Amino acid sequence: MAEKKLPFTKEQIEKIIETYPTPFHIYDEKAIRENARYFLKAFSWNEGFKEYFAIKATPNPYLMKILREEGFGIDCSSVAELELAKRVGMRGDEIILTSNDTPAYEFQLAKDLGAIINLDDISHIDFLEKHVGLPETISMRYNPGDLKQGNLIIGHPEEAKYGFTHEQIIEGYRILKSKGVKHFGIHTMVASNELDPDYFIETAEILFKLIIEVEQKTGVRIEFANLGGGIGIPYKPGQKAVDLEYVSAGVQKLYNEMIAGNGLAPLKLLFESGRAITGPYGYLVTKVRHIKKTYKQFAGMDACMVNLMRPAMYGAYHHITVLGKENEPHTQKYDVTGSLCENNDKFAIDRELPEVERDDIMVIHDAGAHGHAMGFNYNGKLKSAELLLRENGEVVQIRRAETVEDYFGTLDFGALKDFSV
Ligand SMILES: Cc1ncc(COP(=O)(O)O)c(C=O)c1O
Repeated sequence: MAEKKLPFTKEQIEKIIETYPTPFHIYDEKAIRENARYFLKAFSWNEGFKEYFAIKATPNPYLMKILREEGFGIDCSSVAELELAKRVGMRGDEIILTSNDTPAYEFQLAKDLGAIINLDDISHIDFLEKHVGLPETISMRYNPGDLKQGNLIIGHPEEAKYGFTHEQIIEGYRILKSKGVKHFGIHTMVASNELDPDYFIETAEILFKLIIEVEQKTGVRIEFANLGGGIGIPYKPGQKAVDLEYVSAGVQKLYNEMIAGNGLAPLKLLFESGRAITGPYGYLVTKVRHIKKTYKQFAGMDACMVNLMRPAMYGAYHHITVLGKENEPHTQKYDVTGSLCENNDKFAIDRELPEVERDDIMVIHDAGAHGHAMGFNYNGKLKSAELLLRENGEVVQIRRAETVEDYFGTLDFGALKDFSV
């Protein structure tokens, strides 16, 4: 199978390991910035266009700072993520809270920050009003039900827990208008890791239709439409990245016909992509700890699913490069395993690789989104460091590795001596 490109050499990584032992994630600033500019340029015809980086993908303040400088906002889904936005100095419409089964304190923090609140359910209107008060701007998440096919990760929209039904969302705008809300948005997200560019054009069409209907039935003029995240990335060599210029041209055509054509312009378009922003530009670097040969051949790594859950969780493919052996024939088959006491802790199953040995360095590609962030501490495993490869070639640590003391941080061993059994 063809190799994927890396922004560093084996020698550079060996040098980095002298200071930062494996495993670690490393992100490529130059590529992240170039990609951010490409995204914004593709939609530059739309005045007010904004991408709100889905911070759940890679919640690191250094990356947020870089993306903010490029003109991105952030999409949050919890108090911790809102707090992160606050600490980076983000405020107001730089932040969206796409809420999920949301507690009042989360709505409160979002409102205090002036963030755009994106409601998930019609019952949350009353809840928000009662506990926090309604802000001037509100968005609602639309679940198109059987109008749209979901994809494998997110499932069929009718089965999904997210969003308002068609009737509910129209009623929602009526209620919010009667309660004095002044500015309105709409949101939907029905796909995850989708590589078909037409999917996003169809999603825009569904939202544009609804925007027309809402205006006709309620008199509410929607000012922004959030097309969600879910833009896929080519995890496998040979897959094609979503052509954002193609998506943009398709959406622009529909915008001109349906939005401008019905006197509903201007309408700001938003995205809240995570994976497509940082995914391809982050790498998990890990060393072979042991080679084990039983009924199969295993390469046991010093990373485990704590560092990257996607293969174990979704059976997801992540490409692997064995540094220094890029041009060697892939004559061996390995299960590339982690050290967790779970049999699904495998980065790859039956992967054809060159012959590997103890201490070989493997780079697991496309780990820049939903990678480090998803990890847990099961088995007492500790989360690894995050590094940033700066544009000038310098490497900085942007999150240190966890220590055993971090793991014990929520325990009070002092009180243990007074605990009688
Ligand atoms: C509401 C919402 N927005 C955005 C995203 C980001 O998705 P992706 O990283 O696939 O673009 C997610 C992912 O889980 C999500 O749930």
